[in-house]
Amino acid sequence: MKIDILLGLQWGDEGKGKLVDAISPGYDVIARFQGGPNAGHSLEFNNIKHILHLIPSGIFHPDKMNVIGNGVVIDPAVFKTEIDGLAPYAPDITRRLVISTRANLILPTHRILDAASEHRKGTSKIGSTLKGIGPAYTDKTGRAGLRAGDIMRHNFRQLYEEATGKHLETLSGFDFTFNLAEYEKGWFEGIEMMKEFQLVNTEYYINRLMTSGKSILAEGAQGTMLDVDFGTYPFVTSSNTVSAGACTGLGVAPASVGDVLGIFKAYCTRVGSGPFPTELGDETGARLRDTGREYGATTGRPRRCGWLDLPALKYAIMLNGVTQLYMTKADVLSGFEKIKICTSYKINGTDTADIPFENDAAIEPVYKELGGWTHDISGIREFDRLPSEFKRFIGFIEEYCNVPITIISVGPDREETIFRVKLL
Ligand code: GDP
Ligand code: IMO
Ligand code: MG
Repeated sequence: MKIDILLGLQWGDEGKGKLVDAISPGYDVIARFQGGPNAGHSLEFNNIKHILHLIPSGIFHPDKMNVIGNGVVIDPAVFKTEIDGLAPYAPDITRRLVISTRANLILPTHRILDAASEHRKGTSKIGSTLKGIGPAYTDKTGRAGLRAGDIMRHNFRQLYEEATGKHLETLSGFDFTFNLAEYEKGWFEGIEMMKEFQLVNTEYYINRLMTSGKSILAEGAQGTMLDVDFGTYPFVTSSNTVSAGACTGLGVAPASVGDVLGIFKAYCTRVGSGPFPTELGDETGARLRDTGREYGATTGRPRRCGWLDLPALKYAIMLNGVTQLYMTKADVLSGFEKIKICTSYKINGTDTADIPFENDAAIEPVYKELGGWTHDISGIREFDRLPSEFKRFIGFIEEYCNVPITIISVGPDREETIFRVKLL
């Protein structure tokens, strides 16, 4: 069997959690491959909203296995809080969640370093989620990290003290006050909880499952425009969010990849700093934020909102090799008289559809304007019943991107989903 990859094509928060949950019945295993508690993946069913940070979004299906792969960075304190919260809803979780021995740990001092570094940057800050992501991946590539498998070592406490000591040395150069003990208690409780789970070499685990005919869905976090290589650097996260990241973040070969399922919102949002060509600072932006309830699932920050950016979407499709597009939040656009879609950029008077290297390029979006639809589409479950203006909207996107839109999400609930093709 091949491994399918579902990932975000914009600046994160595209609705990955909702759709992973919705298509999980078609898979045996759901695996996270990068990111960490910076992710906030929301999903809803039975009128309850859940927000997952580290745990894969397949966890609510009692017959599915879930994997935290080697590419993920784990904060044990967040892990414990999340597992405690899930207990009433996700039975038998210690058996159904497997953790990679190779996943790096986020230490309390990584979180403090993240905060201290953002504080020092002032107005030029990244706008990180303050979860310690950047410092943890820095230690990983600097070959100084602690990994999940290390928690079983007899000298783990000593390894922890050594790593923390180095961080404290660095922090002494910052004008930043903090209370390490406040973080440490929950962190060590989390370490104890992690020991109750299966810590395995998940690269073998996943490849053996594939060989035995099991189907795997890799769940991305963040989005392509936040990728450390291809996003709007330095206003990005610290991992490879693109499909190639699933290979390194789980230990699967490129030839094992099947479908790449790319998720995008019918408009764009971004939290944190950095370029956002179609951002709307006016009342239309405010309307998108209010109607779409655009507030961060991890930090609660208001998300910046703007029209759909097709050059950025096409860039993401190219980088990921997207084979199917899933569109979310289509319902949010209901009632807009006109809907704009950015088809190219004007940069210094030149029309282009390429994403520039420079972050400070003065980009003027060029828009195509389409007629909107008046009535609420959130109750529709069959594609044919969607308004003709809506079909024109998605037809335009499919033609521009040359990839079919096979799922349309019209609300946050699991059920509020239109499948254009039968899954598996
Ligand atoms: P993720 O990080 O990609 O999983 O996305 P988030 O959960 O951070 O943000 C998506 C938000 O939109 C959540 O509040 C979801 O409940 C909500 N959502 C997902 N799909 C839809 C949809 O089709 N329509 C509406 N109105 N909300 C949606
Ligand atoms: P999900 O998986 C949206 C953004 C932060 C910041 C930048 C770097 O829910 O889509 P970091 O804490 O990673 O060092 O922050 O990346 N960011 C996200 N934005 N959704 C996310 O995850 C994000 N994870 C990080 O706001 O701009
Ligand atoms: Mg999110």
